Amino acid sequence: MSKCPVDFNFFDEEVLNCPYDFYQTLQEQAPVYQLPDTNIFMVTRHADIRQLLKDTATYSNNFNDLLKGPEPAPEVTAIYAKAWQPVDTLVTADPPKHKTYRTLVNKVFNAKRVNAMEAYMKEIVHELIDSFIDKGECDFVREFTTPLPVYVIADQLGVPRKDLEEFKEWSDSFARRLSQLATPAEQIEDAENIVAFQFYFADMIAERRKNPKDDMITDLVNTVIEDAETGETRQLNMEELQNLLQQLMVAGNETTTSAITSGMVSLIQNPEQLQALQDDPGKIENAVEEILRMESPSAGMWRVVKKDSEFQGVKIPKDSLLMLRYHAANRDRELFDDPNTIDIERSNAGDHIAFGKGIHFCPGAMLARKEMLVALTALLERMTHFQIVEEKSDLNFWPNIVLRGRKGLYLTFEKR
Ligand code: HEM
Repeated sequence: MSKCPVDFNFFDEEVLNCPYDFYQTLQEQAPVYQLPDTNIFMVTRHADIRQLLKDTATYSNNFNDLLKGPEPAPEVTAIYAKAWQPVDTLVTADPPKHKTYRTLVNKVFNAKRVNAMEAYMKEIVHELIDSFIDKGECDFVREFTTPLPVYVIADQLGVPRKDLEEFKEWSDSFARRLSQLATPAEQIEDAENIVAFQFYFADMIAERRKNPKDDMITDLVNTVIEDAETGETRQLNMEELQNLLQQLMVAGNETTTSAITSGMVSLIQNPEQLQALQDDPGKIENAVEEILRMESPSAGMWRVVKKDSEFQGVKIPKDSLLMLRYHAANRDRELFDDPNTIDIERSNAGDHIAFGKGIHFCPGAMLARKEMLVALTALLERMTHFQIVEEKSDLNFWPNIVLRGRKGLYLTFEKR
């Protein structure tokens, strides 16, 4: 007998881990579905999500209160009070405010700069591979996919190699704070790390104001913006800069790590696809799109409903939350044939919305795509006969509603 939406509990670890039956059931029976006993409406069809994303006045990105989570302990608040307080800049800003920051970030992530980063990316990728290739095995997440995006963005933010370990710790603290899974002791540690990050970057900002360089942080610090609300032209203030830097770290690191990790798992589990890429590396570019479609590391995003509304015949009251399920949309049978099967030659793989759509479309998309391309090209060029070491890997996904990433992947391989 076919299943109904109520047969699934979205928050159940098993469903989060393997949500495909749930997605299909919703797409067929309840494309705008209120999760039982919550004010969350989950939207799963590709066409519906694209349409909702256009109405930024009704469906707002101002979900900062959601991200804050429960009130932290007084000692945690006291640590945060030593540095700069959060403001809404990009991902949590709506028009017209959003445009102020987005225009700047689009300039910072321009094609010329991202293309110029390719040589550095290749250098990092090959250095990482050099560090484990002779062993014939590696902890792929720890030794490759986690450091890669961190090193790439750190270079653009002016962080020297000697500080990378510390930078990585700060980056982890941001991610853990967002997950809201930290223990009280970890919350203190995260607050200390985040405050340390802020002071480190306050120095970096002052330095780039004095001595500009050709990197992203210089552009963020020195470009004059037009404030879309006031019409005033000015540079970003310290709160805005700190907030933007944090977003670049959080939005770009785990997502890219997950995309490359899960992509490798899919390819290894489908050896004929992996072989096709090894035979013809020209296919890797489309394979990157197919991996993004299948894996959607930014599995869903929140929107806050600003006024009573109705969509697809479902009444959605003011103050409800929308969960736009990008991961489900990218498996929508209306658009993708046999959506749960990886096909590196799929002609419309690039129609995925793994990077969102509309005004909040991921500004790091070009960078992430390039990192994936450079990484997969180098891995397949230098190694072959990849195998997953089951007893050292945990291919399950972290129980996280927004980000989708595998817990661990340990590989063996042969040098090519
Ligand atoms: C595979 C990797 C990545 C995926 C899947 C991804 C996915 C996304 C998605 C779905 C959004 C839209 C959020 C929404 O609808 O509200 C987004 C926004 C964003 N992403 Fe990415 N992203 C990736 C990599 C990166 C990288 C490398 C960076 C920067 C270094 C980055 C920075 C951002 C920022 C700043 C935003 C907010 C943009 C805005 O609100 O205007 N992302 N990303």
